[in-house]
Amino acid sequence: MNFSKPILAIESSCDETAVAILQPPGKLLCSLVASQMEIHARFGGVVPEVASRNHLLAIKPLFEGALSEAYMIKPEELGAVVATAGPGLAPALLVGASFAKGVALGLNIPYLAVNHLEGHLLSPFFGSEKIPHHLALLVSGGHTQLTEVMSAGKYRLLGSTTDDAAGEAFDKIAKLLGLSYPGGIEIDRLARQGDPHRYPFPKAFLEKGNLNFSFSGLKTSVRYFLEKENFSEKEFRKNLPDICASVQEAIVGVLVEKVSRAAEQQDLDIIGVSGGVACNSALRAQLEKLCQKKRWQLYFPPASLATDNAVMIAFAAMHHLQDGEQNSISQEIIPQWKI
Ligand code: KG4
Ligand code: ZN
Repeated sequence: MNFSKPILAIESSCDETAVAILQPPGKLLCSLVASQMEIHARFGGVVPEVASRNHLLAIKPLFEGALSEAYMIKPEELGAVVATAGPGLAPALLVGASFAKGVALGLNIPYLAVNHLEGHLLSPFFGSEKIPHHLALLVSGGHTQLTEVMSAGKYRLLGSTTDDAAGEAFDKIAKLLGLSYPGGIEIDRLARQGDPHRYPFPKAFLEKGNLNFSFSGLKTSVRYFLEKENFSEKEFRKNLPDICASVQEAIVGVLVEKVSRAAEQQDLDIIGVSGGVACNSALRAQLEKLCQKKRWQLYFPPASLATDNAVMIAFAAMHHLQDGEQNSISQEIIPQWKI
């Protein structure tokens, strides 16, 4: 079945409320994101109930804004309303999914519950009707996983983190270093002037055959390092770029090594990288170098589709709607939804 009508998608799994309208397969009619980053920054992380309340405030104006921005689309012309149903924070997911179900019911059009991870996974191939057989590295604030993607909807998990996600490690270590939330961007920025080999922080799980990740040991090691060194304010400021570059190397080095092993093990020569950490400049540079050497094809989403957004949710939904899938209005959210 060729699903050709506009899809309205809602994303509210964490601290971004987002609404997008996609004209399949790849014509973006509008994409709006209301970030709560500044609200949560003062708590040093996302507070679920605060996120939920702010989604509630943002969702209706965003929905109305999306429809007026995609001015050629009238609500009754929409083909489906879809929303992230998991994984994510339950109070946050509830707002977007309930709103989407209400709209679907009101307009009498299909509703589809979308997996947030699938949204990220397919985002490097935005606009393509056919997703190639490839290796996907998903690196976000909540997830770190390597997946073999056979085609849209057919996935095999090869490895994932046993504790912190890569983005979470960046954010927690940034907090230890007194940097602002979300810290991944700050570490990336400071690392550009630093020496990545000055402090050899541990790289976990590098033994053969292991495609899982572990980043909590790195965080502990940075904490002990700071206690042991006991830098003066001036020394700390001077060494901060080297510390950031070394932390980044410990995370990125593991990610790149595991991508290389997984691709060889599964005999895959196409790599897709998604999630907020896909914006990291060292990760991009090292993967580009690896793929050039191995003659593998490397895909990243455009920066606007790397961090949380509703476009990737609409795009993932499109592949399921094309197969005739839809959910009933009684479909619940799935906060622990896996892929
Ligand atoms: O995909 P995303 O927007 O949200 C989740 O689904 O989790 O990812 C957010 C994560 C945060 O942990 C943030 O620190 C990280 O992506 N991030 C980065 C960079 N930009 C965003 N980490 C490292 N380097 C970056 N340039
Ligand atoms: Zn995400």
